[in-house]
Amino acid sequence: MHLMHSILKLFSNRDLLYVRRLITNILANKLPYREQSKLFWDDNGYTRNLRISPANPSEDDLNIYKKYLTDGGNNKKVLLLGSTPLLRHLLSELGFQNYVVADFSFATIENSLWALNKLGIDLNPENEIWLKSDWLYMPLEPQSYDCVIGDMVFTQIEPSKQPLFVKKISSLLKQNGNFIVRMCMCNTDFDDVDPKKIIEGILFSETSAVEQRFALLYRLRDRLRDNKTQTTSPSTIINELLKYQTPDEKKGDFLRSVAKMISKRAEVGLPFITQLKDELDEIISKEFLLEASATASDYAYDNFPIYILRKKNIVSRLVIL
Ligand SMILES: C[S@@+](CC[C@H](N)C(=O)[O-])C[C@H]1O[C@@H](n2cnc3c(N)ncnc32)[C@H](O)[C@@H]1O
Repeated sequence: MHLMHSILKLFSNRDLLYVRRLITNILANKLPYREQSKLFWDDNGYTRNLRISPANPSEDDLNIYKKYLTDGGNNKKVLLLGSTPLLRHLLSELGFQNYVVADFSFATIENSLWALNKLGIDLNPENEIWLKSDWLYMPLEPQSYDCVIGDMVFTQIEPSKQPLFVKKISSLLKQNGNFIVRMCMCNTDFDDVDPKKIIEGILFSETSAVEQRFALLYRLRDRLRDNKTQTTSPSTIINELLKYQTPDEKKGDFLRSVAKMISKRAEVGLPFITQLKDELDEIISKEFLLEASATASDYAYDNFPIYILRKKNIVSRLVIL
């Protein structure tokens, strides 16, 4: 190690940057998805765009969560998957006590508090139980939660592991317990549109720059998905953005800023999980009944519904069999 350190010190800055990229690429190919994802969250967390939807739950999304969470009062045992700042704030604001925040990235559990603090929201962490664990293996008592909630958690679990994930969540819920989760479903409206045309559609639209960035990102992410793996490579999106030629400097800057938004993800080789409604419904329906589905009306997407799922009881399982 000492020898390697001495040799590396002789390299130019440019060569050192190249070596760093090389190492990241090797790591990205070697690490399993969950390790890449943990690396990504440990390094990034929730810093920006808390008030931008669909990246985060909107006001109306929060009202939907609230409606179903408080159905029957706030004396419920709740498990929050991930550290989504606005969901932590909602639970605390609604008076839930000792809810569990489960996240495999301790850095993100902490960083989410700072993100809230920047919005002027002070949350009392004494009222929370922090659990550093992968959702697939949470060491919690079976059948002990009234409600599990999360924001876009299916985008964080590889499709091949999702059957195990829904089983685990169902096992933690009491009989008739609820799983309330905002979904992210692949929009197929642009499947036959050339990615270049998708870029042009956004470049010449009139929405604000931040909204345009997210709209372009989500459209390319859905359009460039690999149907076999149900994922989209961030590098494929970046290549598409950077190969678009425009003489307009501002538009060029805009496209580079979108590429930059996902460059950290590309660096660790972490794909986006991009699934169709049917693919998700098939997995979920093995363990849950869809009690209700509601879509926020304060942002212009209909592929991010909140699912209110009820754990299937033994009778409903037998009926399916
Ligand atoms: C709630 S999810 C997604 C929310 C967000 N709106 C998004 O899509 O960017 C993100 C959080 O889940 C955590 N996370 C992701 N996969 C996880 C896993 N398998 N086990 C535990 N925590 C996980 C991350 O560390 C992060 O804090």
